Amino acid sequence: MKKRKMVIGNWKMSPDTLKEAQVLNDSIKRKIGSIKKTIAVICPPSIFFSTLKTRSSSKKFFYGVQNVAKERGGAYTGEVSASMIKSLGAAFAIVGHSERRAMGETDEDVCKKIQALLAEKIRPVLCVGESAMDENANYLSFIKNQLTKGLSGVVAANITEVVIAYEPLSAIGAKNPITSHEIHQRNIFIKKVLADLYGKAKAFDVTILYGGSVNPDNARELVEGGEVDGLLVGRASLNADDFFRIAKVMDSLS
Ligand code: 13P
Repeated sequence: MKKRKMVIGNWKMSPDTLKEAQVLNDSIKRKIGSIKKTIAVICPPSIFFSTLKTRSSSKKFFYGVQNVAKERGGAYTGEVSASMIKSLGAAFAIVGHSERRAMGETDEDVCKKIQALLAEKIRPVLCVGESAMDENANYLSFIKNQLTKGLSGVVAANITEVVIAYEPLSAIGAKNPITSHEIHQRNIFIKKVLADLYGKAKAFDVTILYGGSVNPDNARELVEGGEVDGLLVGRASLNADDFFRIAKVMDSLS
């Protein structure tokens, strides 16, 4: 079965107010209705979740969160559990984003979060990516390590529920993405790691995204050249027009 293309918007810690979030959400919802085949997901800050009416019956437009507690419930001040976000309609959750890893999220945390999400039938979006490339290609073992540890509790029957987002740190919040040739290489490498863990057939069914300085003008080249299944978008997802244009590009490639 041909995989559907996917575009995920990660709003990060924006916008500043609920009012602005409502305006952005309404605008994206209005436009995204005309997208035919692509799966579009927006991940607003979870504090805005219930007001944004995130319970969607659509088969192609979903909401996700940017983080989740690794524990299922209990005395964890400030945390938000997988069952809480599920009850508000979250269908996806980003885990292991480099910005959270920089705040102390470990591969072991990522692994637990993925388990908590799968138990609630929420699709984890596992972010992996190196901080720098090196001549000896140590960055490849770095990516492999993040994948193997993060996925260590995931059985073959569940692996296609997990979305892998490859985001090299050098391209996040930067001026330019890495080249589509480099994305292609990493995509093949990620598939190889998945194939070693779960077999080739399963590995080819896993959705693999690229993220880092994506915009409406470079989206086509990144997906076509990188042969990825879609994109994880930061800044450009805060502009309804830009996000919609990226989704339209995905639709034309589906
Ligand atoms: P930018 O698209 O702003 O570079 O952010 C990428 C990202 O981190 C998405 O998760």
